[in-house]
Amino acid sequence: METFKKRISGYFNTCPSISRRFNGLFPFLNIFRYLFWNWLASKDPFLSKFYTSNNLTLNKIEKKFFNNGFLIIEDFLNLNDHNNFLKNISLTNPNLDYKKPHQIITINLHDKYFVNLFKKKTNILLKKIGAAPIKINNLSLELNVVNGSDVSDPNTKLHIDRFIPTIKIFYFPDNVKDSPFALIPNTSMIDILRHKETLKALTKKDNTPFQLSKLYMNNFPKEKKFFVRANSLIIAATHCIHRRVNFKSKTGTRRSIRIVPYGEISGRGKLLKNLNFLDAS
Ligand SMILES: [Fe+2]
Repeated sequence: METFKKRISGYFNTCPSISRRFNGLFPFLNIFRYLFWNWLASKDPFLSKFYTSNNLTLNKIEKKFFNNGFLIIEDFLNLNDHNNFLKNISLTNPNLDYKKPHQIITINLHDKYFVNLFKKKTNILLKKIGAAPIKINNLSLELNVVNGSDVSDPNTKLHIDRFIPTIKIFYFPDNVKDSPFALIPNTSMIDILRHKETLKALTKKDNTPFQLSKLYMNNFPKEKKFFVRANSLIIAATHCIHRRVNFKSKTGTRRSIRIVPYGEISGRGKLLKNLNFLDAS
């Protein structure tokens, strides 16, 4: 369990909207925070589409994304760039401890060419679904390394990242044959039932990671596991119910690049900007 101490505290730090819940002490604050941030998100031109199920103004790609909660883009980089990127990341020194049964190592890549390439290509995709462009100063390469077992990792349990819409982008440089990202499609809509379920879960003391009830989850189709080809990118709404599937093999590494256009800091900043706009109008 000790292996995951760092990761679990890191996990809490990335999603305070959910985890710092003041359980028992100030439940009204949770409800206030929940209502405030959802109200603000529902006023955002992009995120508001997660609050209305019959939006007739959506284009084909938007419909797919807002209904399913994800988009897969294969062959994201051209062949030459993909090969050079593989060479580039193989030069990084992950500093692994092979005594640990499971590790998640994050390495920041600063190569200007690839930072700009990912920024340019990601922003073209974000524009297609109506999202605001993202600033990228470095690329975050995550190495998920198993050398025994990863059963204690909370991210392998079905959960939601935040109680307001959250978007994460994952790029997989290699074929994903083990421990894929998985998501239950059609769990992206924040409707009355979702509000009820989330508020109910907010009052639970031990809900790590933040899970909704089995009854709610059973309303939806089975999770989709993303065994994607090398050089694929997934744009995922991670307020959908999702997880990282446990490794089946005893040893292995899953490499991914993670970009977060609507997460804890980036998403909150964008929403607060909207608040200024709302005040001014
Ligand atoms: Fe997650």
